[in-house]
Amino acid sequence: MNYSDLIKAAVEIKKNSYSPYSKLKVGAAVLMDNGKIYTGVNVENSSLGATNCAERTAICNAVCDGETKIKAIAIASDNEEYILPCGICRQVIAEFSGSDTDIISTRRNGEYKVYKVKELIPEVFKL
Ligand code: THU
Repeated sequence: MNYSDLIKAAVEIKKNSYSPYSKLKVGAAVLMDNGKIYTGVNVENSSLGATNCAERTAICNAVCDGETKIKAIAIASDNEEYILPCGICRQVIAEFSGSDTDIISTRRNGEYKVYKVKELIPEVFKL
């Protein structure tokens, strides 16, 4: 599948990142089963631990709109290296994904890698 629109959405929203502490602007875009796309940015906080990552912001936006089935999620930052979801985000992605859901990791120069949820989140915790 061609994820260029999804990646573009993640790159575009990144400018709204609230990241005065780390200075790392992150954007994420989730493609839902029905074709809708939701975006999010990292929202940092003085207490650092209250920071919300871009992936979770995007997923919360989708859930607020009643959408809970993720087909793919793209993540973008200004880093030269590929950006990958943190552990908490992997758990949250898994909540709304199947094992074959795609996670698209990008780097500043526009290159990207596609991982499956089962590769980045094997042996996920479930109640
Ligand atoms: N961050 C994300 O938004 N997504 C990730 O996948 C990794 C980390 C944010 C959290 C924090 O605002 C900044 O990047 C530095 O950790």
